Amino acid sequence: MKDLTPNRASLDPIEIASRDEIAALQLKRLRWSLGHAYANVPHYRASFDAAGVHPDDLQTLADIAKFPFTVKEDLRQNYPFGMFAVPQDQIARVHASSGTTGKPTVVGYTGQDVKNWGHLVARSMRASGTRPGDMVHISYGYGLFTGGLGAHYGAEALGCAVVPVSGGMTPRQVTLIEDFKPTTIMVTPSYMLNILEEYKRQGLDPRASSLQVGIFGAEPWTNAMRAEVEEAFDMHAVDIYGLSEIMGPGVANECVETKDGLHIWEDFFLPEVIDPETGAVLPDGELGELVFTTLTKEGMPIIRYRTRDLTRLLPGTARTMRRMEKVTGRSDDMIILRGVNVFPTQIEECLLATPGLAPYFQIELFKDGPMDAMRVHCEPLAAGDAAPLAAALGQRIKDVVGISAQVVLSDPGGVERSQGKARRVVDNRG
Ligand code: DLL
Repeated sequence: MKDLTPNRASLDPIEIASRDEIAALQLKRLRWSLGHAYANVPHYRASFDAAGVHPDDLQTLADIAKFPFTVKEDLRQNYPFGMFAVPQDQIARVHASSGTTGKPTVVGYTGQDVKNWGHLVARSMRASGTRPGDMVHISYGYGLFTGGLGAHYGAEALGCAVVPVSGGMTPRQVTLIEDFKPTTIMVTPSYMLNILEEYKRQGLDPRASSLQVGIFGAEPWTNAMRAEVEEAFDMHAVDIYGLSEIMGPGVANECVETKDGLHIWEDFFLPEVIDPETGAVLPDGELGELVFTTLTKEGMPIIRYRTRDLTRLLPGTARTMRRMEKVTGRSDDMIILRGVNVFPTQIEECLLATPGLAPYFQIELFKDGPMDAMRVHCEPLAAGDAAPLAAALGQRIKDVVGISAQVVLSDPGGVERSQGKARRVVDNRG
C-alpha cells in the first residue's frame, strides 16, 4: 500500500490548531447555535424554558450539560419541518432517514450548510488519503439517504472526478472500477464485500485493481474487517462516520496515516459521551453514548442529540481534534442474551478470526423454550466439511463473548448479501 499521508500544508489550519484555539472557536459558535435554536425553533424555546435554561447561561463549554437533550422522537413529533430554524425559502436541501417504522425523520440544510457539509466531506476524504484530481467511485445510495449526495459534494469540493454510481447492480460496479480506474471508493463496508465477491466471480484479481483508498461507513465495522478488505484489495480502508440528524457523512473520519479511530471535526460539532442510563456526562476515555451539538448549522441546529451510538472520546493524534473510537454498535442493536450484552461487531470479530469462514454473516434471534437464543448464519470459504468450522466459531464465541450460539453454515452464497447497510440481526422471537 502506498503512503498517502496528506501534506500538512494541505490541511485546514484548525485541524492542527492548539486545543485552546479550538475551544475558543467552539465556545463562540456554540453561543451562536444555542441562541439561533432558541430564537427560531419553538421546540427548543419550549424545552429550554421547561428546563429553566437560557442560551445566556452558557459561560463555558462544560455548561452545555445544563441544556436538555434532543432525541429522535423530538424530530418525529415535529415532522416534517418543525425543527427548521429558517423560513422555507432559505432551505436548499432536504434529506430523510428511511425510518423502518412510522414517519421518516426529516433534516433541512441552507445553501451554507450544504457548502459546509461538502467542505467537511472533502476534509474527511483528504484525511483518508484522497487527493484533488483523483477519480472517486461512489457506491453509497443516492436519494434521501445522505450517503450518496454527501460523498458526491465532498468529492467535488476536493476537486475530484466523481463517478456517481450509487448502490446495486454489483457486476456493473466491478466493470466500472476496472474500466474507469478510480483510486478511491466510497461505500458501506458490507457492500464492499459484495464487490469483492463479484471480483472473484468474474475471475479478476482485486489486488490488481486501481483502488488505493476505501472510505467506509454508515454502519459499524471492525478492525478485523479492515484487515480483511485491505488484504483483499491491497488498499487502505478508512472509517467515515456521520448521521443525518447532525449532517450526514463527514462528522468524523479516520486519518490514513494512523487509522486509530475517527477525528471529530470539532470546529463544526461539539461531542460529548454520556452514561445512557443517567444522562451524566462521562470523562473522556469512558465508554458511553455519543451526543452531538451542531455549531454552525443554520437550517436545522441540533442541541445535544443522543445518537445511540456507543463509543469513547480519545485525545487527538494525527490532528489536534479529539477522536472517537470505532463505534461498537448502537444501543438499539445490543442483544442481551442470558444477561450478557452482545454486539454484532463482536460476532464479526470472532468470525473473521476463524480461518476457513467467509466474511458474510447474519444473526438470528429465536426462542428456545422460554429463553432467548442466538443462531449465527455464515458460510465456509469453500465447499467442504462444515462441521469443524461451525464448532470452531461456536467455541470462539463462547470463549470471547461468553455466550453459547448455534452456528449454521450455509452453502457459499447462502447468507443474505448487503445492498447498503447490512441487516445484521433478524429477530424471530415473535
Ligand atoms: O449513515 C450517514 C453516513 C453515510 C455515514 C455514509 C457514513 C457514510 P444515517 O442513515 O442517518 O446516516 O445513519 C446514521 O449510522 O448513528 C450510526 O449508528 C451508523 N453509522 C454511520 N457511520 C458509522 C460508522 C448515515 N462509521 C447511523 N461506524 C449512525 C459505525 C456508523 N456506525
